Amino acid sequence: MIYAMISYLTYYVMSIIIFNVYCEELPQIQIEDKCNFIDSKLQPNTFRLLSKTIAPPLEGKTKGDAGKIGIIGGSTEYTGAPYFAAITALKAGADMVYVITTESASPVIKAYSPDLIVYPFLNTKSASKIRSLLPKMHVVIIGPGIGRENDTVNLVFEIIEDCKRMGKPLIIDADGLFAISRNSSVLKDYPCPGVIMTPNQREAKRLMESVSSNSSNWYTYWGECVSVLVKGEKDYFYSNASSYIWAATGGGSGRRAAGQGDILSGALGTFYSWALKTEFCKNENNTQLAQSVASYAAAKLTRLSNNKAYMIEGRNMIASDMIKQIHPAFEVIFFGP
Ligand SMILES: *[C@@H]1O[C@H](CO)[C@@H](O)[C@H](O)[C@H]1NC(C)=O
Ligand SMILES: *[C@@H]1O[C@H](CO)[C@@H](O)[C@H](O)[C@H]1NC(C)=O
Ligand SMILES: *[C@@H]1O[C@H](CO)[C@@H](O)[C@H](O)[C@H]1NC(C)=O
Ligand SMILES: *[C@@H]1O[C@H](CO)[C@@H](O)[C@H](O)[C@H]1NC(C)=O
Ligand SMILES: *[C@@H]1O[C@H](CO)[C@@H](O)[C@H](O)[C@H]1NC(C)=O
Repeated sequence: MIYAMISYLTYYVMSIIIFNVYCEELPQIQIEDKCNFIDSKLQPNTFRLLSKTIAPPLEGKTKGDAGKIGIIGGSTEYTGAPYFAAITALKAGADMVYVITTESASPVIKAYSPDLIVYPFLNTKSASKIRSLLPKMHVVIIGPGIGRENDTVNLVFEIIEDCKRMGKPLIIDADGLFAISRNSSVLKDYPCPGVIMTPNQREAKRLMESVSSNSSNWYTYWGECVSVLVKGEKDYFYSNASSYIWAATGGGSGRRAAGQGDILSGALGTFYSWALKTEFCKNENNTQLAQSVASYAAAKLTRLSNNKAYMIEGRNMIASDMIKQIHPAFEVIFFGP
């Protein structure tokens, strides 16, 4: 009883602190200039304000308008990663989420959630079946729990080649990044609306080594439409459009739940589809800005969900607790001050 009171009190006090941080006075921004920024970085506050403009209205839309997201991942060993990515994409607001996974992982993921559409086609013999499913997805996320077997790496290459041919917006995470570091040229010159890679620090280092570069702008190796969101204590977004680079802090906690990366990539899938639909710019900078704003919203949502879950569960927090906090975090990010 006393514990419950203390934790409620802590939660209440922390909520007030957070509320005040978010409500501090903010300078006026000329959002109109966002597509023509030359030689200067946009302020993080601009990304914050722009991210509030991407959520689609609930009225007058038909099913699918708010995003159809595909998750390609999972294996016999890993069923949680694709599930967390998929359920987050859905809870973050996508209308439909498709999971393409292995035959062994499929019944497990179906049993986790009746809200997901699950196809058991992730094997080397079914590349053509996967190809035929891609057109109905607005954004594809590849990698969560997919594994590192050589056959899998080759299948990942094949799927990425198909997406590239179709000009499909793509997010690459986890073992999908392992595949890229095996042959980074697979992603080279990927067309707009492009790719966002979401490595942690270790994966980012491996990617950097794979493009044989020690230079600070190693991430431009893949061309103008590929950007990188490096997750960590701070999150860093790197883009070929230097105006759209940022670092995000705030939120989070000392506790990093296993599955947190999958939550980020799932939310990013939905927000990327929204940001592309928003059409910020009529010029060539639209893709880069959409990637940057979507990544900002996803990074912030993940950090805030973590923080809120930590206040309730403390060190016992797990990824499922974070998923329960998506709703309050979402309210702050999209409809807060
Ligand atoms: C696109 O952004 C870059 C800076 O990242 C800027 O140099 C360029 O002028 C912009 N393009 C247009 C058409 O404004
Ligand atoms: C997997 O591929 C790597 C690199 O292409 C190779 O070095 C390794 O021997 C392969 N492993 C197996 C089990 O075939
Ligand atoms: C890497 O991918 C490129 C482009 O898909 C291909 O041409 C090349 O042969 C691949 N390299 C290796 C070592 O597999
Ligand atoms: C990058 O730096 C490391 C250590 O400083 C060095 O061993 C490596 O050769 C460098 N690679 C390139 C491509 O310059
Ligand atoms: C953007 O990419 C082009 C080549 O694709 C490169 O020449 C340029 O330096 C890059 N710009 C930045 C700011 O990284």
